[in-house]
Amino acid sequence: MTLINENYLNLQGSYLFAEVARRTAAYKASHAGQEVISLGIGDVSRPLVPAVVEAMKKACDEMGQAETFRGYGPYEGYDFLRKAIAEHDYRARGIEIGEDEIFVSDGAKSDVANFQELFSSSARVALQDPVYPVYLDTNVMAGRSGTCKEGQFERIIYLPCTAENHFAPQLPKEHADLVYLCSPNNPTGTAMSKAQLKKWVDWANEHKAVILYDSAYEAFIRDENLPHSIYEIPGAQTCAVEFRSFSKTAGFTGTRCAYCVVPKALKIEDETGSEHALNALWLRRQSTKFNGVPYIVQRGAEAVFTPQGLTQTRQIIDGYLENARVMLSALRQAGFTAYGGENAPYVWLKTPKGLSSWDFFDLMLEKLQIVGTPGSGFGRAGEGYFRLTAFNTPQLTQQAAQRIASFSF
Ligand code: MLT
Repeated sequence: MTLINENYLNLQGSYLFAEVARRTAAYKASHAGQEVISLGIGDVSRPLVPAVVEAMKKACDEMGQAETFRGYGPYEGYDFLRKAIAEHDYRARGIEIGEDEIFVSDGAKSDVANFQELFSSSARVALQDPVYPVYLDTNVMAGRSGTCKEGQFERIIYLPCTAENHFAPQLPKEHADLVYLCSPNNPTGTAMSKAQLKKWVDWANEHKAVILYDSAYEAFIRDENLPHSIYEIPGAQTCAVEFRSFSKTAGFTGTRCAYCVVPKALKIEDETGSEHALNALWLRRQSTKFNGVPYIVQRGAEAVFTPQGLTQTRQIIDGYLENARVMLSALRQAGFTAYGGENAPYVWLKTPKGLSSWDFFDLMLEKLQIVGTPGSGFGRAGEGYFRLTAFNTPQLTQQAAQRIASFSF
């Protein structure tokens, strides 16, 4: 008899964004003709910038010529892209990261989902609550969660992030081996300061814990005092892996390109106390399970770092941040308490009149034809909150803002 991986049976419900899509499709099917505005999943609406398109066209032509055609690329990404990343995302900020510490991939989602494979199945995992569901679900699949009781898994350490603690995760009271941090945060839209991050780096080094740091939204930071990378904090290279993405920075949600940084100084022990570099293990994992990102896509990603690419992508991000400002202002006008949206593309609001997150989802859909994401879908501490993304077009965001501002909740 073939037995199933029972860890999968521990997963709660369906994947959050699949459930939002399912309910939205059902609503649209029974309300033909109504214009539903999607501020749900954080998918970009602006096209790839001209610098990226040009680079991809050129790479396409190369692939059509025998002399310049390329087959399998390096598992860890082409040197040209790893160099551009090291130079622009790190050295330009005074951080020394080697090209061989950068691994190009098809998405930060895949990287954060896969990285946990390098750790023992008995590792204790700490997560912000609310949290991007992929961190939790992949650890449930790997058998690290224990069983779920009243919406929380027994072996997961939850770090509540609510208005009361300004959405900042506090250090765990019990031992954790792996900690997922996301800043600027999805879903709360708030960002950690250097002092807050330093507390985590010091704690991780002291407790031999590893921080899996998701900074997929760093390009949205406009406050000059906020850290873009965990490696701005001294000591982070011995305790942290960083995940970044071109998805939200340069509109690559459909094109797929991201990277993670695994410093060579980051080592973890086996049961005998011998140390192993995560960098070498990650390369071993990627070369076994992954065949790299297409050459054409990596040339497109490289073009993000050209002067034109930097200017063009910054304009797009500024546009999304303007959408967030428009939504925040409409929400506050309508009497909502809303957070985030200043250094992140997500606005996080308190539901009115104590409504549950899903009841508010239904209300927004039925009364305003606006789709958002229920906060409870990101974890128990997200109950009573709701997330809106700034990634729609300026026109539809304005329309949504007008609907919100004129509605009496
Ligand atoms: C989100 O809406 O949270 C993101 O788009 C999901 C993702 O990046 O996978």
